[in-house]
Amino acid sequence: MNDIETILRLTDIRKEFGVSGTSSLRVVLSGLSLTVKKGESLAITGPSGSGKTTLLNLIAALDKPDKGLIEFKGRNLAGYSSDELDTYRNQSIGIVFQLHHLLPQCTLLENILVPTLAVNNKAKRAFYLERAGELIRRMGLWEVRNQYPGTLSGGECQRTAVARALINDPDLLLADEPTGALDQANALNLGELLTEINRIDGKTIIMVTHSAEMAARMERTVDLITL
Ligand SMILES: Nc1ncnc2c1ncn2[C@@H]1O[C@H](COP(=O)(O)OP(=O)(O)OP(=O)(O)O)[C@@H](O)[C@H]1O
Ligand SMILES: [Mg+2]
Repeated sequence: MNDIETILRLTDIRKEFGVSGTSSLRVVLSGLSLTVKKGESLAITGPSGSGKTTLLNLIAALDKPDKGLIEFKGRNLAGYSSDELDTYRNQSIGIVFQLHHLLPQCTLLENILVPTLAVNNKAKRAFYLERAGELIRRMGLWEVRNQYPGTLSGGECQRTAVARALINDPDLLLADEPTGALDQANALNLGELLTEINRIDGKTIIMVTHSAEMAARMERTVDLITL
């Protein structure tokens, strides 16, 4: 496969955790290889405990594999300097969790701007404010943009989390059970949004889900148990 088209390549990944109170290790991922093309949408499924969140954490460079390579745009994450890793986490990827993880003391708008706070340049701040406004409109959140998470519905919080993940225009959107805590209507709505972000904006999406309906929206499904 042409490497220009490959955004992410995992080769022979192994991840194990120590079992507390014992000297034994639990192998969670072993011999996992996966290639993701730029612009692709991928669902990751598998039973509870099969290592789905572990895998997303490795891709997000929040944890390191015990063995194997993780290459983003052809470069091994293990070779990134600590500054490069910070930039990768802040700019190249966006993450949406099952529970939105919004800051309760910040408004919806402020939460979306959190990943941009390190930038002080006035022109850049104006740019981010405008981009946040666009995302807020697109997510159908304009009326509630100055409210705090505690006063928002679950669906509104999760759409805010998606906007926050997109504020720095990342190449890759990672989502861990993004609809897991939502009712059917809000889950459908979020599924539509994620599909649109993939098809219209061309973002590569890797989504962990238990929902067959959400998985069917993605172009490809990888089931961890069958790898
Ligand atoms: N930091 C850790 N220390 C020890 N064990 C861990 C750690 N993180 C994950 N595990 C173990 O690794 C296994 C896989 O966990 P993981 O969270 O990746 O599963 P999952 O597929 O996301 O499950 P779920 O569908 O329930 O979210 C589990 O048995 C878990 O207990
Ligand atoms: Mg999980």
